[in-house]
This record gives sequence, C-alpha cells and structure tokens, in this order.
Amino acid sequence: MTTWSIREVPVSETADESAWLLHGYTAAMNQVLVDSWGTRDFERTAREILGSMHDQRYDRKPRLVAVRDDEADAPDPTRVLGFAALLMPLQDNTHTAHLDVGVLPEHRGRGIGSSLFDAAEAMVRADGRTQMTMSSDQQVEPPEGPDTLAPTTGTGRVSTTDAGVRFALARGFALEQVARYSRFDLPFDPAIIAEHRAQAEAKSGPDYGIVSWRGAAPEEWVDEFALLNTRMSTDAPLGGLDFEEDVWDAARIRSTEKQFEERGIELLVLAAEHLPTHTLAAFTAFMAVPNTDEFVHQHDTLVLKEHRGKRLGMLVKTANLQRLAAERPSVRRIGTWNAEENSYMLAINVALGFQPAGGSGEWQLKLR
Ligand SMILES: CC(C)(COP(=O)(O)OP(=O)(O)OC[C@H]1O[C@@H](n2cnc3c(N)ncnc32)[C@H](O)[C@@H]1OP(=O)(O)O)[C@@H](O)C(=O)NCCC(=O)NCCS
Repeated sequence: MTTWSIREVPVSETADESAWLLHGYTAAMNQVLVDSWGTRDFERTAREILGSMHDQRYDRKPRLVAVRDDEADAPDPTRVLGFAALLMPLQDNTHTAHLDVGVLPEHRGRGIGSSLFDAAEAMVRADGRTQMTMSSDQQVEPPEGPDTLAPTTGTGRVSTTDAGVRFALARGFALEQVARYSRFDLPFDPAIIAEHRAQAEAKSGPDYGIVSWRGAAPEEWVDEFALLNTRMSTDAPLGGLDFEEDVWDAARIRSTEKQFEERGIELLVLAAEHLPTHTLAAFTAFMAVPNTDEFVHQHDTLVLKEHRGKRLGMLVKTANLQRLAAERPSVRRIGTWNAEENSYMLAINVALGFQPAGGSGEWQLKLR
C-alpha cells in the first residue's frame, strides 16, 4: 500500500536538480492540468513557479506536496503524487486564502487530496483566516438537468458527478460563481477586427487615444495603471465571493513587474487615454508565458465606470489583437476567463469570435 507524507516545497535560490520537491510539484501540477484540459497550453515551468515563490511581499504562497514514503528518502521528483498551492493575501483580503489542489489521476480516491486539503486548511486557520476559496475546472459546461448545480448567482452550471465538485461539496464549500473559459484561434481575419475597431472608434469619438507598453509601465502611467488594477479587483462581477478591494499603488506595480521579469512573463498592455484629462479610462492586457510561444492568456480588461457605454472595451480589445498579431506572430491561441454573469464582457468576446471551451466553479467556505 502506498503511504505518503505532506511536505512544504522549500523556496530555493535556483531551480537546479537539487530542488527536487519543486520539480515534483511542477510535474504533478502539469499532469493534472493536461488531464483536466486535454491541452498543454496551461503547463508551467519550475523556474517560473519558483520566480513567483520568490516574491511573497503581497501574498504568502505556501506550496505543499504529498510525497510517496521511501525509506531512503531518495530525492526523486516522481515521488510527488499531488500538490496544494495556497495564496494568502497579506495587504487586503487577509480574511481569505485561495487553494489549488490536485492529485495525479492514477493516485486518486485514496485520501491524498483529503490530506493535502487538511494540511492546507490547518495553515489557513493557524494564520487566523476565516474563509477559503477553490476552483473546480470543467472542459464543458453541462446543460441544464439532473446532476448539475447552479451557483448562487443563478448563471452557469457544474456537474455534481465531477471529482472536483464532489471534493468541494464534501468539505462544505458553496458554489458562488461559474466562470466561462473561451478560446480565440489565430490568425484572425484582419478586415473583421479592423471593422470592429472602426465601429468602436466611431462611437468613442475624438476624446480617446491609444497608449501601449510591454513589460514595465512607463513612469508617466504607473499611478494610473495602479488605479485601474485596484478598480479591477471589485469592478468585475464577484458573484457571492466575499472579496474586498485590493489596493494597488506604483510600488506594487513595480514589484510585480520585477516578479514577472524573473518568471519570464511579459504583459502586453494597451490602454485608452482620456485625452482631455490625460488619464487612463480603460485597459486590456495579454500575458505571454515562458513555456510556449503559441499561446497567451488574456489578462485583465476593464473600462472605468465613468467611461462605460462608449465601446471602449471593444476598442482596446481589437487594438490589442492587432498589436499581438504584429508583435507575436507565432501566437495561435488566446485563452480568457469571464464570469458567466458578465454579459457585457462576454458579448464583446463572442462578437470577436471567442468560443466557449469549458470553465470553472468558484467555491467558498466560511471557516468556523
Ligand atoms: C479533487 C481531487 C484533488 C481529489 O483528490 P483525491 O486524492 O482523489 O481525493 P481523496 O482520495 O482524498 O478523495 C476523493 C474520493 O476518494 C474517497 N476516499 C478518500 N480516502 C479514501 C480511501 N482511503 N480509500 C478509498 N477512497 C477514499 C473520498 O471519500 C472521495 O470520495 P467522493 O469523491 O465520493 O467524495 C482530484 O480528483 C483532482 O486532482 N482533480 C482535478 C483537480 C481538482 O478538481 N481539484 C479540486 C478543485 S475543488
């Protein structure tokens, strides 16, 4: 019978071979992702994961692994059978922690997931936090019917026969939101995107211009960019998720830029400037990752409340698609996440040609 122990992945200086728990953690996470999604688009590298662990200024990030017991304690990454990643915000939202847990498919149903969860929950409680959140992934949103569950928002569904859903329900989590994952395939028809952009420009009018950068925000825009990030934390629909405003300032932007640089991540940011006030009214960004040059994540998109209703969302998204095609012609796929009840954002994505490709259940547990 396999027995295992829960260990914490040390924050090593480098991702060389001696960091075997880190390599086991990375491999386990990647196997779970490929098994859940049937694509390697979301795979990560040990170096990128370690780069994130190096920066714990705004979030504490304990990483746990279930390691197959071995008398000799061989430094063998294949002994890692499952992982748990905690994200514990240190500035705002200190009441809550997000947990990502996964077990290698061939080792499920033996209590490994439960022991990883218990160890993570103990850390959350020991830290005085009163809430945990988790996500369960699904490749297809089930149609209405038996064995499905809708969130408290009423929009979207998950299947109650899914292992992740059962895992969350068994621990008393409530389904507070369902998110849709959508994919956009490139290359696109330039005439269609140009037409959408022209229509958006006609509506938004001469008061708005385009500003863009890669990596570090220009000094001129860093405070404005921080404000957009703060607003992003509460302006996107949260369903029944109990999160408070997450405040960003220039120092946090710079700190995150440094972290992304170490991880080999590059943001392609594009914003709409409100010319009369020299402020940023809207932005969108792609996140390019080090493991592939064929796939990018759609990162945040936001139009400030006071500038909505002028097609600025469509404007920044089309302009950034054109820019992506010019600057990163190797990209074949974009993936994006939206709350199922976020009808405005989804309408833009659907009009552009994004196709539903699965989603997630967003779960919340109040700890007593
Ligand atoms: C969800 C997940 C982490 C569970 O991992 P796991 O190791 O199979 O978890 P456990 O073995 O502790 O529990 C799973 C089932 O095995 C049962 N089980 C637990 N210990 C057992 C044992 N010793 N013998 C037999 N069955 C056992 C549990 O009762 C549970 O049954 P249920 O699904 O009918 O409630 C795993 O399926 C996974 O990685 N899924 C993909 C990622 C994911 O969905 N993560 C969670 C998001 S909320």
